[in-house]
Amino acid sequence: VEIAGGYLNFYINKLVLTENVLKEIENAGENFGANNSGAGKNVIVEYSSPNIAKPFHIGHLRNTVIGSALYRIYKYLGYNTTGINHLGDYGTQFGKMIEGYKRWGNEYNLEENPIDQCMDIYVRINNLCKEDEEVLEKCRENFKKIEEGDPYCVAMWNKFKDLSLKEFQKIYGLLNVKFDSYNGEAFYSDKMDEVVERINASGALVDSEGAKIVDLEDKGLGVCIIKKSDGTSIYATRDLAAVLYRAKTYDFDKCLYVVAYEQNLHFKQVFEVAKHLGISEKNLNGLEHVAYGMVRLTTGKMSTREGTVIKVDKLLEESIDRVLKVIEEKNPDMENKEEEAKKIGIGAVIFNNLCSTIIKDQVFDWNIVLNFNGETGPYIQYVYVRTKSILDKLGYVPTIDQVDFSVLQDKSSITVLKTLYNFENVLKSVVDKNEPSILARYLIELATAFSNFYNDNKIIDEDETVKNSNMNPKKIFKNQKEI
Ligand code: ARG
Repeated sequence: VEIAGGYLNFYINKLVLTENVLKEIENAGENFGANNSGAGKNVIVEYSSPNIAKPFHIGHLRNTVIGSALYRIYKYLGYNTTGINHLGDYGTQFGKMIEGYKRWGNEYNLEENPIDQCMDIYVRINNLCKEDEEVLEKCRENFKKIEEGDPYCVAMWNKFKDLSLKEFQKIYGLLNVKFDSYNGEAFYSDKMDEVVERINASGALVDSEGAKIVDLEDKGLGVCIIKKSDGTSIYATRDLAAVLYRAKTYDFDKCLYVVAYEQNLHFKQVFEVAKHLGISEKNLNGLEHVAYGMVRLTTGKMSTREGTVIKVDKLLEESIDRVLKVIEEKNPDMENKEEEAKKIGIGAVIFNNLCSTIIKDQVFDWNIVLNFNGETGPYIQYVYVRTKSILDKLGYVPTIDQVDFSVLQDKSSITVLKTLYNFENVLKSVVDKNEPSILARYLIELATAFSNFYNDNKIIDEDETVKNSNMNPKKIFKNQKEI
């Protein structure tokens, strides 16, 4: 510590830093940076949540990738983490689908390309509904029949669900995304009476033109409809039922909703009304909308009706194809080309979705998403593979007692060590802010620090001590649990 003018300067003893960081890595092994800081806390991460019978587009991709990253990071930190896919599997649109299928079902083969076929039926029936009020009435009746358990309608509805889910699973498989629960909106269809009763008991439920509402005008949030005049529920009611169910089932410390900021008002309303459900203060405080920005096209917003939606399966296919072309060009004799292209192509798309602040809107540009140079997923993969190949070449991982810390005092070694030292703080800010981009940026920083270290040092030196010391920090790459 030094006094300099009006300042107090602190210097870090590099040798102590080196020793501390390397020993900590040695001791913590796979849990480096985690410290089990989430132990005893329950976290729900709700993410992806696509709508059944609708295409899975790049907006859902962003959601899925952000949510899955948060889910993994919370898990890594030792939180008891539950990932929920709150499927959009309920509502009048299914009445419409059934009506469309009844009319034109024989023209379609749902087994092949089910979502495209469903969309076609959906657009057709929607157009008809606009022209013909009677058709719309039929659609409403179909939905009512689903609620009443009519065998045909329920079977059709389940068919749409199964087919869609199969398609979604393919994408989740490619992205390596997992959920602990697929309890979607329909799951709450029989759990809404209790919501109404509880809000009523709290005195907040008001009659308004036959509907039941909660008035949030004084909070600047309008009114939240709980039950429509025809007795049916809405999206918000099902979300309230989900809050109640999750509070009872998981007693969550945090319940995160990864949903686009378009739904800001909806979540403000739901969280406000949730105060009347009689759940614990802890649960109430844990409700959090993790809002992310919209994905737009250079030509504007995506529209299913205008056919401008970019579907995720197409995007991943294209990405993998482009990588394959690069491999064919640069390394045609490589083994397992397809497998490698898959890892790189999908990695590029995932990383692209993670490296900018989530609230920012994104303009989708094929050339940016599929750029493999610079601060991208493939760059990180490249550095990672490089570290592994050095380890392979060496054939063993030196232990801490084989390290001479004084060998690692040059600028680029110290930068790697400082960056590793920071890992714990980085993870902490990720969960404090629910901002996975902090970790993505960190990985670029670490990869760059390592590349410099690699360029500046002859890692596999003839001198045993130098070699062992150089190799030791990279244990982190070998031991790091996959996040
Ligand atoms: N299915 C909805 C959509 O695609 C998103 C659901 C968000 N989650 C929720 N609990 N409301 O717009």
